[in-house]
Amino acid sequence: MPASCLKSDILSHKEIFSGVYQMTCRFPGPKAPGQFFMVRGWQGYPLLSRPISVNDADEDTVTFVYEVRGQGTQLLSALRPGESVELTGPVGSGFPVEKLSGRVAVVAGGIGIAPLLYAAKSMKGCEAELFCGFRGKSYLVEAFAPYVSAVHVASDSGAEGHHGFVTDLLDAADFDAVITCGPEIMMKKVARACREAGVLCYVSMERHMACGIGACLGCTCKTLHGAKCVCKDGPVFLGEDVMIDA
Ligand code: FES
Repeated sequence: MPASCLKSDILSHKEIFSGVYQMTCRFPGPKAPGQFFMVRGWQGYPLLSRPISVNDADEDTVTFVYEVRGQGTQLLSALRPGESVELTGPVGSGFPVEKLSGRVAVVAGGIGIAPLLYAAKSMKGCEAELFCGFRGKSYLVEAFAPYVSAVHVASDSGAEGHHGFVTDLLDAADFDAVITCGPEIMMKKVARACREAGVLCYVSMERHMACGIGACLGCTCKTLHGAKCVCKDGPVFLGEDVMIDA
């Protein structure tokens, strides 16, 4: 599915948690879980578009959930339904959901929960459980209800669920596969636990991006097979291949 660049109408846009927004845009065509778009909703500065993962999609629309972290996402958050954004995508390799079977742990940290919703929705014939960690209160968790058989929540502050790391709750050996997205320190622990348990693991990496198409080499990560571009070769990698520095 080749990436295309479209001026896209915003169909809905709302704050679903403090500083976290959900935006649905018209964008026809297939989108794979784990892929992302380069999103731009402003003229001039900041020069670079923002990479935002697909939170949900259908034939005609794509939904993003993003956290306001800087000027670009701040400008984006001010846009209203009826206005438009420039979308380039879908970009990157997604989660190979067709290779997953049996029991699958979906492990999210913070805003890393966003792409895992579409991944959980796209897994067919699997029994999925969601493990998610937040700084404080959770968000987006209810949306997983149709696609997972259990939800395990952890929080740094103790505001909700287990007071501690989400990785405290996960026994990788209980699962046939694990997919994860979130802070690198969390994904590193998840990937290590999977390696020790001999469990298939896919991690979704995040990097600052400029071109989004593999041209600038500004988004590389280390893997057993050399440096790879997160935008073009990822963002999803085999957990056993990627060398996470965190
Ligand atoms: Fe330019 Fe990935 S963002 S190579």
